[in-house]
Order: sequence, then C-alpha cells, then structure tokens
Amino acid sequence: MEDKVEVRGDFPILEKKINGYPLIYFDSAATTQKPFSVVEAMTRFYLEDYGTVHRAVYSLAAKSTQKHSAVREKVRKFLNAKTSDEIVFTRGTTDGMNLLASTIGSAFINEGDEVLLAQTEHHASVVPWQRAAEIRGAKIKIIPINEQGELLIDALKELLASGRVKVVSLAHITNSTGTVYPIQDVVRLAHEVGAYVIVDAAQSAAHLSIDVQKLDVDFLIFSGHKIYGPTGIGILYGKRELLEKLPPYQMGGDMIETVSFEKTTFQKPPLRFEAGTPPIAEIIGLGAAIDYLENIGMDKIARWEEMLLSYATEKLKTISGLKIIGSAQKKGAIISFVVQGVHPLDIGTMLDCKGIAIRTGHLCTQVTLSFYQVPSFCRISFGVYNTPEEIDQFVCHLQDILKLLK
Ligand SMILES: Cc1ncc(COP(=O)(O)O)c(C=O)c1O
Repeated sequence: MEDKVEVRGDFPILEKKINGYPLIYFDSAATTQKPFSVVEAMTRFYLEDYGTVHRAVYSLAAKSTQKHSAVREKVRKFLNAKTSDEIVFTRGTTDGMNLLASTIGSAFINEGDEVLLAQTEHHASVVPWQRAAEIRGAKIKIIPINEQGELLIDALKELLASGRVKVVSLAHITNSTGTVYPIQDVVRLAHEVGAYVIVDAAQSAAHLSIDVQKLDVDFLIFSGHKIYGPTGIGILYGKRELLEKLPPYQMGGDMIETVSFEKTTFQKPPLRFEAGTPPIAEIIGLGAAIDYLENIGMDKIARWEEMLLSYATEKLKTISGLKIIGSAQKKGAIISFVVQGVHPLDIGTMLDCKGIAIRTGHLCTQVTLSFYQVPSFCRISFGVYNTPEEIDQFVCHLQDILKLLK
C-alpha cells in the first residue's frame, strides 16, 4: 500500500506482552505511546546539555535557552502561526483552557454575557468555563448536536443572534464521538458577531495538519502527551493582539519585567503567561515529537488513520447488539460504542486479559453521555502505530468475549 505507515519499530513498548498476549494499544486518544526519538532527545538533554533557561550567562544555560526557543519556533511552524510570540508553553490542554477561561473571563466577559460550548465538550472545557461564568455572572449556553454527533449550525446561528456571546469554545475533534467539527464555519459565524473562538485541539493535533491562520481561530490549545511527546507540556496558540490584551495568569519569576514591593510590571506574551522555571526537558521532548510527526507527514498520517477508522467501523458494524456512538460524515480515528446488555467495564477488563487496551467509562465528558443517555462508553482510538491486523485481532477477541458476557 502506497500510504502504509510502518513505524512500530520506533515504539519499544509495542514489543511488550500483556497477560501473555502482544500489546494492542487502542487508547491513543487518552495518551499516545512514545517513540524512541522523543525519549532519546529528553535523555540526551538531561545527560549532556541540561541547564536553566533565560536566567544565566554561562554556556549550558545559553544552550538550553537556544534549544527551548527553537521549539517555540518549531511549534509556530507546526501550526503556521504568524510569529513565535503567539506560542505559549503550558502544562497541557487543561492548563491552557484554565488559563483562557480565567484571563478571558476577567478581560472580556461581563455580567449577562454568554459563552457557547458544544454539547460534547470535555470536562477540561466545561468546568473551567463554568467557574469563569460563575465569577463573571455570565451564562453558559450549549450548541446542540444531532444523533450522528454533528454540530447543528442553524442552532449555533440562533445562539449567536442573542448579541451577548463573547466566546465560543469547542473541540476540533471530540474525544467521544470522534466528530471533526467545522471550525472554519464556526469561526466565520462567531466573528460576524464579535465573539472569540477557542479550539481544543487535544484530539486533532496529532492526526491532521492544523493551520491557525487558515482556520482564523483566536486561540487553540493541545497537549504534548497526545502527540507522541511527554506529559507536563502543552501549547496555547493565541493571536498576538489578543494575547496582549490578556492579564497574567500565574505570578512569579520569568513573567515579570520589573518588581518592587510597590509595583510589578509584566513581560509581553508569551513570557507573561509562563511563570516559573518551565518544563525544559518536556519542551525539548515536544520538539522531538513534532519532528517525528513531520518526518512521517501529517497528510500521510491522516490517510492511514482514516483507513483504520473505516476498516474498524465496517468490522464493528457486523457485531450484533453493538451500537457505534457517533457516525458523523467527518470523523477522527476514534470509535465509541456500547453493546446492548453488557457493561463497558466488563468488556474493557476482559479485553485487557487478551492484551488489548481500550478506554471505558465516561471519557471525561459526562455531558456527552447524558445526551446519548448511556452511563458508560467503550472507546477505541488509533495512532500511527496501529494496523488493520490489530483491528482483526481485537474484533475476534471482542466477539468471543461478547459470547461469554451476553
Ligand atoms: C478533547 C479533549 N480536551 C481536553 C483534554 C484534556 O487534556 P489533558 O488531560 O492533556 O489536559 C482531553 C484529554 O483527554 C481531550 O480529549
């Protein structure tokens, strides 16, 4: 196959046996496994080049600072941002959303204003915005979806017509139904009424190429650990003129210009939002993860995962009593499902006995479960290392397990 992605050898963990079976890892939406090159970049940095950033004149610190800045530029290119000042290092998507809800809340949101969230948002989006809305006296309103998991654009237009919407915040790809939301349409409509758009790219950054200028989003966030990088590092992109209007989030070293006991002045973005010593090794690891993705090619990854998605969807459709949750026209490599009369936890536990890792439970989106009126999902999600042969194995084991459980 021309577009075959063959990278399993890059991931030592995939050679592991779990409960005597070869590991089949189908939980990349939760976190991806790490290629050797990412681990090596971080290890080398600790063993050979480690020093602090921004604060010292000695050679190790200068080299560290140069490597750290180079990753900011790499992320800029990865997202096609205009300048690297638009790239803020965070601890992850959750941290980025808390930063935005808190700072946008205090800079732009007043009593009676409205924040729109999609029906399927992750708790990392619902909860920070609930808190910000409470503090500012604003209201959260929900953009509905249809049964397939697609956003209802006419309903969005009606919501925007209130004239009070300040922010629309939604996932690029949902972590439950796998729907790819039409971000460009949402942005166009939101901008017509002067609302800002925040895109949670936690589930898209590793799977399709993102161009923030083309999408014209105001803010976009993602986590390093979901794009084959380390935990503890994430990215917040913001249009420069908007970041400049936001107040600092956390206070401390690095984000200041001058400090006296009477008054402190703050750095410009991005440093304004990066208080304290950054996770330097994790930033280096994130840079290596972006290199890794780009060496394979984002378009090639998208095509491979699309093939895995349709292959698995067709196979799962043949299992009686199994219902796939979310059948949108455009989907990422995520399939959630339920099986009539069988608890997802039992399926997950029995698949683990066969070495297969899938996600079960509320997937950190209880609001989506409420919409579909089910207490728990099973979810499989794919990464660059997955193969059709693994899907065959999974379906075979699932069928055996269901025979026992039903
Ligand atoms: C859509 C979405 N948003 C936010 C998050 C939170 O990401 P993190 O836990 O890395 O902060 C996740 C993680 O599952 C997610 O899938």
